[in-house]
Amino acid sequence: MMVPVLLLAMSLALAADRPDVVLNDFESPSYGTWTVTGTAFGPGPAEGALKGQMAVGDFQGKRLVNTFFEGDDAVGTLTSPEFAIDRNFLRFLIGGGRHPGETCMNLLVGGEVVKTATGHASEFLREASWDLSVYAGKSARIEIVDRRKGGWGHVLVDQIAMTDTKPEPIDERAVLLKKAEESIKAAGERVAKDPSRPIYHILPPANWLNDPNGPIYYKGYYHMFFQHNPYGEDWGNMHWAHVRSKDLAHWERLPIALWPSKLDGEEHVFSGSATVNPKGDLMLFYTSIGGRLPEQWAALPENDDLTLWKKHPANPILTETLHGDTKVHEWRDPFVFQAEGKTFMVLGGNLNENKGGQGTVTVYRAENDDLTKWTYLGVLFTHPDPEVKNVECPLFFPLDGKWVLITSQGRPVHWFVGSLDTKTMTFKPERRGIADAGNFYAPNVAKGANGQTLLWGWVPDFPKGKGWNGCLTLPRVMSITKSGNLAFAPAPELALIGNPEHAVMIRSVEMNDEAKNTDFSGDATELRVTLDLGTAKTVGLHVRQSFDGTRSIPITFDGSTLDVQGAKLSIPAEAAKAGLELRIFLDKSVLEVYTPNGQCLVKVMDYHPDDQKIGAFATGGKASIRSMDARMLDTIWKK
Ligand code: FRU
Repeated sequence: MMVPVLLLAMSLALAADRPDVVLNDFESPSYGTWTVTGTAFGPGPAEGALKGQMAVGDFQGKRLVNTFFEGDDAVGTLTSPEFAIDRNFLRFLIGGGRHPGETCMNLLVGGEVVKTATGHASEFLREASWDLSVYAGKSARIEIVDRRKGGWGHVLVDQIAMTDTKPEPIDERAVLLKKAEESIKAAGERVAKDPSRPIYHILPPANWLNDPNGPIYYKGYYHMFFQHNPYGEDWGNMHWAHVRSKDLAHWERLPIALWPSKLDGEEHVFSGSATVNPKGDLMLFYTSIGGRLPEQWAALPENDDLTLWKKHPANPILTETLHGDTKVHEWRDPFVFQAEGKTFMVLGGNLNENKGGQGTVTVYRAENDDLTKWTYLGVLFTHPDPEVKNVECPLFFPLDGKWVLITSQGRPVHWFVGSLDTKTMTFKPERRGIADAGNFYAPNVAKGANGQTLLWGWVPDFPKGKGWNGCLTLPRVMSITKSGNLAFAPAPELALIGNPEHAVMIRSVEMNDEAKNTDFSGDATELRVTLDLGTAKTVGLHVRQSFDGTRSIPITFDGSTLDVQGAKLSIPAEAAKAGLELRIFLDKSVLEVYTPNGQCLVKVMDYHPDDQKIGAFATGGKASIRSMDARMLDTIWKK
């Protein structure tokens, strides 16, 4: 009885020590005993990239199998001699096209394909492995296949070996997120001391921010994500950073949510939206960018705090093949919405490669409750302006009995209010306007805890060289006015930031063609002022005014236009009849101005730390600041 146990122990020990069997490392210039058909494989293993191919990387040694010989249209197969399976695993590197059955490597046992793997639409190879234990002792062949013509019609393979060492899957998420967080931390130490950084607008601890992405109120928290480059203060390496808030006023930074899955050929995680699918599961949708056509991907949370995300196993969820013969250029920025109990998605782009004014919003319907199967329904909206060649970040949502479409086509951002024909899934705009004529782009929308509809935009254009760039606007509550326009107001929850007490309340500052002090200064404040033009030509405020008055940012009203450092709002006469009431949020180098008729402007300002005076002025006659309330605001970040 003792003997078999001993033998078993010995054979296990032996098994663990058995060296790997390299079936082919493709280092020699010919395929040797392997059988080639067709032309795709060329005369032998390639030395990296072939003519007309992008850079090929992450293979081992000098050569690899590369079926791009004569381009993507060449086809063929490469088959190994028979070998006996006598290790537990097969390990190999694979890249190229992601076309199952067409650009792939197969394991054949008894002439049948028992395992198969494709590339991942990337010229960078990644490690893959198969468990061979059930085939122990059987004889097998490896077959590398390129049957695909056209885009990504090639496969890359290298370093095929049998091994007893269990291949550990690489935790790419952990590796890349750690690297990204370390980079932000290192950069953050420098920028933390920069006094021009806004303290109550959302921004990352350092480096680049652009579009707000996927805002959603979910299980008691507002979640906000945004386009973020953890590695620099310029655009690049798009990730989704993540912050959350219970009250829409104070925010907490969470780990980066989405990273580019390099091993799956992804280089950027572009903009998108969040939704809860009909099964009750939260999903993020975004545009995946790599060395291939754009694809729409999804991600799923792995915990209730939403601090850990995985890429959806069904990715890519939408590809351009959905469009049949129609080519949608610059196809990106999915936004999900519901209508008549069904789930839809809009995407931005254009139908004629940025030529001739056909920025479009295309629309799709979900065909299952997992939101993994979609049908292309057609064009929801074509931008009416001939100069608009492309649309980015479309937002489409119901509000106050109407449908609202917000489009980013370069600045300024447009809004359209109209109706949706649910039979044809087309949008008929009735009124239009500009969302914000200041430093504002690519906004995103969420339903709030009280059913309110909130908008945040990206504030671009901060000075370069400071180790950070970009913030989000304050949350803006949207509504439709009696005359059918889209209106914006600062979210009431902003009252929770900082000191609710008024620092000053000024009854009246009378001026006759002159400038006056208000005796108030600050650089993180909210001001409520009423400007009365009287007989003057202009009346206004100087914010960020220097002690000697030589520098300032003027906010000027001339009876019909409000001018904030060159950005203009035209003010209808009735809005200023009893004086023009303004709400002004001053946050270091950012200023937001809101008018009572629902218009707003955000401006990035030159910043000099000591310029904190607030002054008033009138030109060409008598005018007054009828009243001014000011209160101090404080940081929104939880320590
Ligand atoms: C808008 C935009 C989007 C894109 C993202 C990339 O600013 O160009 O269309 O998804 O930024 O960062």
